[in-house]
Amino acid sequence: MIIPFRSNIQQMGGYVSGEQPQGDGWVKLNTNENPYPPSPKVVAAIKDAATGRLNVYPDASATEFRNVAAKLFAVDPDWILPANGSDENLTIIIRSFCEPNDAIAYPYPSYVLYESLARIQNCSVSHIKLNHDFQWDAAASNAVCGPARVVFAPNPNSPTGNRWTADQLHQLLPDKGILVVDEAYGDFADDPHRGELLKDDRFDRRLIVTRTLSKSYSLAGIRFGFSIADPEITAGMHKVRDSYNCDAVATAAATAALLDQDWMRQNREKIISTRSRIASELPQFGFKVSPSEANFVWTVHESGRHREIYEQLKQKRILVRFMQYPGAGPHDETVDGLRITVGTDEEVAKLFDALKTVVATAC
Ligand SMILES: Cc1ncc(COP(=O)(O)O)c(C=O)c1O
Repeated sequence: MIIPFRSNIQQMGGYVSGEQPQGDGWVKLNTNENPYPPSPKVVAAIKDAATGRLNVYPDASATEFRNVAAKLFAVDPDWILPANGSDENLTIIIRSFCEPNDAIAYPYPSYVLYESLARIQNCSVSHIKLNHDFQWDAAASNAVCGPARVVFAPNPNSPTGNRWTADQLHQLLPDKGILVVDEAYGDFADDPHRGELLKDDRFDRRLIVTRTLSKSYSLAGIRFGFSIADPEITAGMHKVRDSYNCDAVATAAATAALLDQDWMRQNREKIISTRSRIASELPQFGFKVSPSEANFVWTVHESGRHREIYEQLKQKRILVRFMQYPGAGPHDETVDGLRITVGTDEEVAKLFDALKTVVATAC
């Protein structure tokens, strides 16, 4: 049977997300979830919404959520667009701005979903190549970003964990296109900002900040994100999204989560403290750890045997993320390494315990 897919869909590989093992007993440090549960107020809001009027469609404008998010980011509610997870923010952006054959650009290595979404839209993809310090050359980035329709920059970056300044991000603003600053991990940064970039005139109002509830608010299972941008941009993207892209239960949970900032900050502090512990203890096993402002660390082992380490840890039911980036090295060679999500102290103790034997046998 010949299935009549569009030719770009036929040719593309498709994004491969991190493993989500079923069953108990796993130490899951591979997809940057928060190891702590969401606020009890979120659980109460979910129960409330679930016993409410599920027979009718939700508020398509997510009015209450937008009011709460707008307050947090010191903007008006017409700057906020809710999405079914931040990945949907990215889909809405590409569908709103990119014609087939337009170019998108993003730092490399970083979140390769940008590339998959661009391929679905039949766009071309350019990499802003990062050096060993995860910085770009300004002249080279200008050449790549200038003609792009959309440039995506995760800040802090994944998988590297570093964060770029507003001055650096400004270098990525395309000549006429849109810059998307993906702040999925923004709350874990040393000096987390809330919308300051959006008030920086240098970005010429062609800036979209995206956020997720999956990480700092412990709601990966709920699927909720939102974008913040100039009302004209937001109104245009509103035309592209599904009318009811966020369900009533998820919207109630997200609203309650944003209202409980104390809960989020408490977990953030614990994660940052465990992150320091990981950074100081991993080197004793032969790992080099890159400074991180996110809820994960990027690490490479002196043996280079990252796949073997990943596999042996997996046999012990400990999942970390083995990542490979073809062409990312200084001579276009493949770069690989491990991205380890910051878990609880107990989970991290299990990781260290396993590494004692794994490093001895795998490396
Ligand atoms: C850089 C980056 N952006 C966006 C997302 C998507 O988040 P969500 O769970 O809200 O779809 C992720 C998830 O891992 C991410 O790493």
